[in-house]
Amino acid sequence: MIRAPVIAIGLALLVSCVCLAKPNGSKNKKPKQVVPAIECDVRAGKVNLPEFIVKCPSHCKESKQQVYGTGVFASISSICNAAIHNGIITNSGGKVIVKKMPGQNVYKGSNSNGLRSLSLPKWRESFVLSVGKPKKGVIYPSTLFFTPSRPTYVKTNPPPFPTADCKVDLAFLMDGSWSIGKRRFKIQKDFLAEVAQVINLGVAGPMMGVIQYGDDPVTEISLKSFSNSRDVKAAVDKIAQKGGLSNVGKALSFVNRQYFSDSNGNRGAAPNVVVVLVDGWPTDKVEEASRLARESGINIFFVTIEGPDENEKLNVVEANFVDKAVCRTNGFYSLPVSSWFALRKAVQPLVKRVCDTDRLMCSKTCLNANDIAFVIDGSSSVGTGNFRTVLQFVANVTREFEISDTDTRVGAVQYTYEQRLEFGFGQHNNKADLLNAIKRVNYWSGGTSTGAAITYAADQLFSKSKPNKRKIMIVITDGRSYDDVRAPALAVHRTGVIAYSIGIAWAAQEELEYIATDPDKEHSFFVDEFDSLYKFVPKIINNICQEFNSQPRN
Ligand SMILES: *[C@@H]1O[C@H](CO)[C@@H](O)[C@H](O)[C@H]1NC(C)=O
Ligand SMILES: *[C@@H]1O[C@H](CO)[C@@H](O)[C@H](O)[C@H]1NC(C)=O
Repeated sequence: MIRAPVIAIGLALLVSCVCLAKPNGSKNKKPKQVVPAIECDVRAGKVNLPEFIVKCPSHCKESKQQVYGTGVFASISSICNAAIHNGIITNSGGKVIVKKMPGQNVYKGSNSNGLRSLSLPKWRESFVLSVGKPKKGVIYPSTLFFTPSRPTYVKTNPPPFPTADCKVDLAFLMDGSWSIGKRRFKIQKDFLAEVAQVINLGVAGPMMGVIQYGDDPVTEISLKSFSNSRDVKAAVDKIAQKGGLSNVGKALSFVNRQYFSDSNGNRGAAPNVVVVLVDGWPTDKVEEASRLARESGINIFFVTIEGPDENEKLNVVEANFVDKAVCRTNGFYSLPVSSWFALRKAVQPLVKRVCDTDRLMCSKTCLNANDIAFVIDGSSSVGTGNFRTVLQFVANVTREFEISDTDTRVGAVQYTYEQRLEFGFGQHNNKADLLNAIKRVNYWSGGTSTGAAITYAADQLFSKSKPNKRKIMIVITDGRSYDDVRAPALAVHRTGVIAYSIGIAWAAQEELEYIATDPDKEHSFFVDEFDSLYKFVPKIINNICQEFNSQPRN
């Protein structure tokens, strides 16, 4: 039996003080601090040390790696971008000392040094940063030790995978089309069996199923059929090739509508991952089905084996089908494999990525799964200056979310006696456009019919909401409504809208409470003056996230 190479456990090399036992001889030079270099995407949580020094490269801002918090950061934040946010380094890089801290209940996002950090309600670990100049006599580790989130795989006897780190619901779409042939079909089965082995399946960790696609998709193994690697391997071995075309789009629709249902074993709290194995290219279109799957929170990976070469690209049904299907087009979700005989080499990279749950961007989160409607009071009492403050508030709340056609969408209605749709859901599909559109909203001035505005928002916005989005309404008003708000509010609550009310100055407390979803305390806010509105940005984000996190995910 071959033993797994032992990974050096880094904890022995903790911050070590250079003891001053020996007198300072002229030969006795200070030990030199070697500063390990890291990439922009390294998150503090990945480094298994309580305190360490690193060197950041330049241009991390452009990497867009997320940062959560201000001053104290959640450990899922990029170290280098947190350091830029904090002003410890500039975008030209430099040295930083990272110190881990206990997790916090709230991380507040902010704009600082040209970098935007996000808010987060809760995380298990934090860190703080300081300038990369170690105190005298302190030497930090010259090598970093990363938390093992991947298996150390050895051919004959893989050591157990840390299953607790890889709690995903994983579905493979295997290619059963005639074009693939018997021999390659067998290679595909060996691949699946090896993945099942390496990833170490179990109810506390990853669960795995298989769908075979051809003309139509067929469930070979459901997510709840087996709960260990041995049983899944045996079941994979028994799969017989069905033949037919390579209808991947159809199979993705099936996965989205049926396979990942709770009754089929989908565990709410585990990210949904689909890995599509394709020989060559699909025979149908994948774009629409993939979009719907993304909206449902499914992370789609593509392993393309012997994809189309330059000449063959003309025959492909849908150009760039991989980019149209995968969760994100940053390369993380696409694994092109040059030949079937090289497929085996993809086992480890694939398992590593699938289990890197922090990076599964298409999982539903409180920041990416909403349709948010702002219902904005444009009555005369507000005034031009205050109206700009309200728009700033709308922009500041919006900025915290991930905006795209498959992530969070934002719409806005302005009202007086009348109502007008400023922009609908999905009209502006990226953050920059959306923030611009908010800025361009013109102050109307007139009366205050909040009830009619709520009904209008329901008709114009929420009627076009997608079933797998959380519907959130944020009503901002500075006065008592001329019409009844109670019935319109009840009606939208009944359609599943989560309603927030923000009252300023002359707003009526009881109306705010009618508008807000229960419990009122968490959904209804009041401030005396417009200048204090900004205080509610983090409150609202926190509430939305807490509410999201307290519900089962799927
Ligand atoms: C050794 O040198 C350092 C400064 O380089 C000084 O702070 C320390 O007191 C010296 N120790 C002894 C024992 O001379
Ligand atoms: C919006 O954010 C900016 C920048 O962080 C801040 O200066 C402003 O006070 C905020 N305004 C509101 C109303 O939230």
